[in-house]
Amino acid sequence: MVVSNSDLASEAGVEIMKRGGNAVDAAVATGFALEVTYPAAGNIGGGGFMIIRMADGRAAALDYREIAPLAATRDMYVENGKLTDRSLVGALAVGVPGSVAGMAEALRKYGTMSLHDVMQPAIRLARDGFVVDSALNRSLTYSATRIKQFAGGKVFYPNGAPPAVGSVFRQPDLARTLTLIADQGPAAFYTGPIADQIVAEMHHDGGIITKEDLARYRPIWRDALVGTYRGYTLYTMPPSSSGGITMLETLNQLETWPKLPDFNSAEYKHLLAETFQRAFIDRNTKLGDPAFVNVPTAELTSKAYARKLASTIDPAHATPVPAFATGPEPIHTTHYSVVDAHGNAVATTTTLNGGYGSKTFVDGAGFFLNNEMDDFAAQPGKPNQFGLVQGEADAVQPGKRPLSAMSPTVVLDPNGKLFMVVGAAGGPTIITGVAQVILNVIDQHMSLADAMYAPRMHDQAWPDAITFERGGFTTSAADSLQQMGHHLDPTGSLTDVNALMRDARGGWVGVYEPRATGEAAGY
Ligand code: DON
Repeated sequence: MVVSNSDLASEAGVEIMKRGGNAVDAAVATGFALEVTYPAAGNIGGGGFMIIRMADGRAAALDYREIAPLAATRDMYVENGKLTDRSLVGALAVGVPGSVAGMAEALRKYGTMSLHDVMQPAIRLARDGFVVDSALNRSLTYSATRIKQFAGGKVFYPNGAPPAVGSVFRQPDLARTLTLIADQGPAAFYTGPIADQIVAEMHHDGGIITKEDLARYRPIWRDALVGTYRGYTLYTMPPSSSGGITMLETLNQLETWPKLPDFNSAEYKHLLAETFQRAFIDRNTKLGDPAFVNVPTAELTSKAYARKLASTIDPAHATPVPAFATGPEPIHTTHYSVVDAHGNAVATTTTLNGGYGSKTFVDGAGFFLNNEMDDFAAQPGKPNQFGLVQGEADAVQPGKRPLSAMSPTVVLDPNGKLFMVVGAAGGPTIITGVAQVILNVIDQHMSLADAMYAPRMHDQAWPDAITFERGGFTTSAADSLQQMGHHLDPTGSLTDVNALMRDARGGWVGVYEPRATGEAAGY
């Protein structure tokens, strides 16, 4: 089964499994297909993280996060003491992409098929085209002004408008790029003709990524971060993502309550907010690329530390945190969960960061480049596009990976059997959203469908508020939370999760995000 934000990409993964591929082969096929059918999140111009848990017990975490170019400097986005928008839009916002190297490396180590073969569905979708749906049309309409400032304008708005719903959309430049990668491997992208096209785009748009930056990019195998929650085992992402540490730190605190209050109660929402808040304060001040920053992972994820944190929670009052301003922006990332018949599992989250990344488009090569540089603390102490206030640990440095919130996670049940594959898009709400789906299933005994549909909330310490989905709190819970001193900030929808879970009756249940698009494809 494959659950992703694109029906065609989920089906690409299933096609590969039907041809005998394993979950890793299918995940890579899905990843390349998403580049074609879900361009807002790409993502050969971006980066990501993959948690692999094989049926034989091997587990691994692959970090193919973008890195800062060698010419990057700490204050490159600050002018006269003010933060500019150059970490968000245009070529200076682009980190050296990691996805092509990452997906090829995952396949080399854990796959069974060739890169050439698993890329065929993506190449076919780019070359022969696919039928445009309302979601793609709407998304392109929304981002038109910015995309049209760059070379992608002529590809995505052929007559000034995005391809009509129901029309067939072909991407011949992208098909050529994918074919080069399929035939020559990642070298085509990092040292070959595609590298030349990326560097030419940099020269044209004022970016700083060089051939040397591309040639020296390497994905990194890391030990998956392993934690436990009420007897379940979680394999999740260590730094350069903050996702795993922040989620485990939250769950460890919650585990100190023998039984969590009911889902709709103010007590429960209060506990979530307080535990998230404590975990995010550590996240935003202590975490960064482990090659540059000494991250106290063992301490932050220990049960003893969680008990200490949890003991500071007042059951009747919100704990105030120093306040900072915030400013949201359209965003884009995507997660896919894959399991095969043997029980091999892959959780992958991949991103361009903003919707269509920096909007910078590699002319002639057919793809967008990320704006991952905004995940650095472009000005330490000042909020980024997600309102995240981060410190020196995440300051810009050449060759450094910007701190991520992506949290691909594989969960085993108390008997050690594969139970759930889950992850999300949505910046910092990834961490809180994934945690809530897990909590809904384990503590609130919901089905996966209910766990996914249930209203979500979010607290990231700064700003000092609980964001919640409008209508998601009962009136009495909202009143009580305000009495406790919480600031409540209603919003549209929170987090884009794609998850699959073992069905008690046998087989797997997949649920794609009901607030977004996608398909759970299986056979
Ligand atoms: O790595 C991160 O945490 C962010 N670049 C993720 C951005 C995101 O999820 C936006 N998506 N909808």
